[in-house]
Formats: sequence, structure tokens, C-alpha cells
Amino acid sequence: MSDRLAWGILGTGNIARQFADGVIGSARRSTIVAVGSRSPDSANTFAESREIPNVHGSYDALLADPTVDAIYNSLPNSLHHEWTIKALRAGKHVLCEKPFALTASQSKEMFDAARKAGKVLVEAFMYRSHPLTHEVIDSLRGGEIGELKMIRTSFCYRTQRVEGNVRFDKKLGGGGLMDVGCYCINLSRLLAGEEPVEIHASAHLHERGVDDLVVATMKFPAGVVASFTCGMSVHADNTAYVCGSDGYIEVPIPWKPPPQQAAYTIARSTPPKMDLAAGTGGAARPPRETRFVDAGSQLYALEADDFASAVLDGKPPAVSEADTIGNMKVLDEIGRQIGLTF
Ligand SMILES: NC(=O)c1ccc[n+]([C@@H]2O[C@H](COP(=O)([O-])OP(=O)(O)OC[C@H]3O[C@@H](n4cnc5c(N)ncnc54)[C@H](OP(=O)(O)O)[C@@H]3O)[C@@H](O)[C@H]2O)c1
Repeated sequence: MSDRLAWGILGTGNIARQFADGVIGSARRSTIVAVGSRSPDSANTFAESREIPNVHGSYDALLADPTVDAIYNSLPNSLHHEWTIKALRAGKHVLCEKPFALTASQSKEMFDAARKAGKVLVEAFMYRSHPLTHEVIDSLRGGEIGELKMIRTSFCYRTQRVEGNVRFDKKLGGGGLMDVGCYCINLSRLLAGEEPVEIHASAHLHERGVDDLVVATMKFPAGVVASFTCGMSVHADNTAYVCGSDGYIEVPIPWKPPPQQAAYTIARSTPPKMDLAAGTGGAARPPRETRFVDAGSQLYALEADDFASAVLDGKPPAVSEADTIGNMKVLDEIGRQIGLTF
């Protein structure tokens, strides 16, 4: 195998385009050699503008392509299980989009298939590959805000495109919880460093039968409490707050941090109490300190290269099997509570 991982892109939709453009633009250890679509025309259009050499008019043909080392599964949620397992059985490593599957039990089957095939399988939570995420974790673990007490996140958007939108199709695993709530759950569990023992959720369901607004809380064994809001019918700040006994960390763009100047702020103690400190000659440190992180590459290039390191160097993947299964279990439970099971 060369020092670059050869990728085949499964599907030609929105995120497939973003992933391919990120990899082509700035990946160091990844190259795109093939694309596969249900439609030969879509595959051709996708490949032409990006100079991708191998073009396949079916998913099976892509999986049979011997030049492909790894498949990027960018299909709708309900197809992750089927096509990830098919790709593994065809001898490919797989980076599978979030949410990993429709259920935790499907996810376990996918990892079992990976073990059987001896291939790497990872869930594509791209924000986990950005150094901003690592710095926030390091700041927390380094004690900069004291003891972690509470996490508050949101990931919301408003879309009016319902017809033809996979997110409004229950059969395809739609809904805001699966689409973006999975990020809030993932970051909260990452920061807490353990699995929640109590989960409470409420939701608004769209007439198409999928959730378009969810509010949920999670309580972790050490006492940390997390809350999140996700939805497809509402605007929110989409900021992450990591709150401790001595201060808090604010991450204004946690989910899709930019390649340069990705910011987070450490606020030590809550204004207005500390606002007074500057003029008093007392506490030397300012109450708020904003730091900037440069990633050096596009987000999806970082993700692809992390995956390449897992395959080529045997490094631990950005998101472990246990992490993915833990996330899916929370999605299962919230889905059960809001009446949305797949
Ligand atoms: N990590 C991220 O930043 C991020 C962002 C957005 C989405 N995602 C994830 O990526 C996946 C796809 O989302 P997307 O926004 O790219 O969706 P999309 O634009 O609708 O693309 C999905 C693609 O899947 C293929 N497909 C196969 N069966 C389909 C069906 N029955 N209906 C519609 N499409 C079908 C199509 O490709 P062909 O026609 O070429 O076969 C289609 O272009 C989801 O799992 C989503 O959660 C991740």
C-alpha cells in the first residue's frame, strides 16, 4: 500500500461533495480515486469537475474497484448499515457518516463485520479531527475551569426544503436528532468521559413523522449534567458551553470549525463579579481569554487523514467503536422517549 490512502466515494450528494473537495484541497495522506452513484450521470458530473479517474454507475461496481482501499459512505442514514457491511465484505476499510446507523444493534453488526473482514471502520464525526476539539478537551482536563459540572450545546438550523430532503424522510432515518442531535450527544459524552445514566427528552414532530425539534438532558455518573437542543425548524446559537466550578469554556463554532482561527474562550468566574477585578489591581488574569487554533487543513481533509493514519499506521481512530456504540445507545433511548424509533 502506498503512503496515501485511496478513497472511493459512495454517493454523490451534499456531504460527498464537501468531503471530496476537502480531501482534494488539502489532505496529506488521502487521495480520491473513484466515485460510485446510482446514476452514471451523477457519477460522471461528480468525477469530471474533480478529476477523479474511476467512475462507477452503481455502488456494487465501486465496491468491486481494486484501486480503492477505503470507502467513504455518504449515503442516507438508513443505508449506512447495508452498504458499510457490503463494503467491508468487499475488502474495503470504511469511514461511515454519522449517525453511524439507525440503531445501536445495527452498529454492533457493522463492527462485527469489520472485525471479521480485518478492516478499519470509523464513524465520521469530522469535528473530532479538528485540533480545536483536542484543545478544548486539554483545557478541561488540565483543570482550567475547575471541576466539570455542566455542558450545554445546540445544533439547530431551519430548512423549508421538505420534498426530496432525506432529513424529512423517516424511511431514510431522517429527523433532526439523527442529523445533528448526534453531535451534541457525542461532544457531551466526550467531555463527560463516561456514558449517561439518566436521559430525558421532549420533541416536536413534523407532519412527515420525523422530529424537527428536540430538547434533551443527560446525567452522567460523576454528577455532570448536559443539556442540548437540536432541530430543523429553529435557529439557535449552536455554541458549546463547558461549565466548571471555576469558569467555563465557550466554543462558538464547535461542529464545523474553520481551518484557521478556530476560536474558544475561557471565562474564569462569571461576570459581573470578575468584571471588577481589572480595575482593582487584584486578580491579574482577565475574566475572558479567547484563544485561536489553526488546523492547517480543511476539516474533511483532517478527518480523511486521521482515518488514513488508522489504516496505514495502526493509530487509534478519531472515534472508537465503544464511542460510536455509546452514542447510538443514547440516540436509541431518546428516539424511544420521543416516539421515533426506526
Ligand atoms: N459530517 C458532516 O458534516 C455531514 C454533513 C451533512 C450530512 N452528513 C451525513 O451524510 C449523509 C448524507 O447526507 P447528505 O446531506 O449528503 O444527503 P444528500 O445530499 O441527500 O445525499 C445523499 C446521497 O445518497 C445517495 N442516495 C442513495 N439512496 C438514496 C435515496 N433513497 N434518497 C436520496 N439519496 C440517496 C444519493 O447519491 P447517488 O444519487 O449518487 O447515488 C444522494 O446524493 C447522512 O448520513 C448525513 O447525516 C454529514
